[in-house]
Amino acid sequence: MPRYDDVRASLLKDPRTWVVTGAAGFIGSHLVEELLGLQQRVIGLDNFSTGKRENISDVARGHPAFTFYEGDINDRGLVDVAVVGADFVLHQAALGSVPRSIKDPQAAHHANVDGFFTTALAAKDARIKRFVYASSSSVYGDNPDLPKIEDTIGQPLSPYAATKRIDEIYAHSLQVSYGLEFIGLRYFNVFGPRQDKDSAYAAVIPVWVGALLQGTPCVINGDGETSRDFCFVKNAVQANILAATAPDSASDEVYNVACGTRTTLATLYALLRAGLVRMHVDAPATAGPTFGPFRAGDVRHSLADISKAQKQLGYAPTHDVEQGLAEALAWYVSSHTLPQRKPG
Ligand SMILES: NC(=O)c1ccc[n+]([C@@H]2O[C@H](COP(=O)([O-])OP(=O)(O)OC[C@H]3O[C@@H](n4cnc5c(N)ncnc54)[C@H](O)[C@@H]3O)[C@@H](O)[C@H]2O)c1
Repeated sequence: MPRYDDVRASLLKDPRTWVVTGAAGFIGSHLVEELLGLQQRVIGLDNFSTGKRENISDVARGHPAFTFYEGDINDRGLVDVAVVGADFVLHQAALGSVPRSIKDPQAAHHANVDGFFTTALAAKDARIKRFVYASSSSVYGDNPDLPKIEDTIGQPLSPYAATKRIDEIYAHSLQVSYGLEFIGLRYFNVFGPRQDKDSAYAAVIPVWVGALLQGTPCVINGDGETSRDFCFVKNAVQANILAATAPDSASDEVYNVACGTRTTLATLYALLRAGLVRMHVDAPATAGPTFGPFRAGDVRHSLADISKAQKQLGYAPTHDVEQGLAEALAWYVSSHTLPQRKPG
């Protein structure tokens, strides 16, 4: 039986208390949903800077085991209240997006480094069992080697990448200094239902799905051969819960969270179009791809070696890219209001 099934079974028997920061965000809301499904006690914290109230209500509205605090992870008093008595923190709150961090590095630092530090110190003082936090594949930076292996990183290419690397350094220093256990998860292009498609900094999959549904052009930054290791959100959820419950020896480490496969942007576009056709949704020809310049701060190729998470956490992705896209597309289509057709 896969390790995740064992973990789920044991959590169902012995519920724990989990704090999810960034609970109103994309990945955070999926963590809340899974944990409540496993009958855990869940405390969410979010300031709605990029998260949405409907993400919370979709997964936790009125749930007796869910408590929500609206506020900032830099508010130490509030974080203290949120983490007291918790077993685990799953720290997702951050300002994502490389371009956003290039536009406003101060805001990225404040949320991603100061906020991480404040939350980690509150967790240390509350003596929680383990602090699992969202790092990013962006820490591989200018290292061109493929696949990406945890021990071999490069120099960060953006303020966002720097913030995530700083978090990793702080995590190690706080574990050796105070004993609070940390695990960092380097997410690689996570996608799925509820990922925001309307923000100026939205990720490629939601942006293109939105464009395909609206009939506005999908812009490929570069030549279409840029590639990413796209990871369905349920795989990331599994990795978080495995990381929180793994043996102590798995802590003070970072792990790649991905599928271990590489998809070019040109292939991604084709998969999205084909997926919509399978759902009998006709993407207008006006959504046909156009090509724009490469984006500053972007790495050319990204592919994870996931063997460390497989061996040490028991991570076993349940969804490959195409299975994940099918679930994501179904959600976007069902939640999308199609433009009214003209009569006749
Ligand atoms: N989605 C990805 O592909 C991806 C890839 C690598 C890393 N990550 C990391 O994973 C985490 C979750 O990302 P996501 O895609 O769900 O993004 P998201 O923007 O949907 O979620 C982040 C949440 O954090 C909240 N938040 C931000 N700053 C806050 C603050 N100061 N106080 C309280 N709440 C705050 C936002 O309101 C939002 O709800 C982030 O740390 C992100 O950097 C995501």
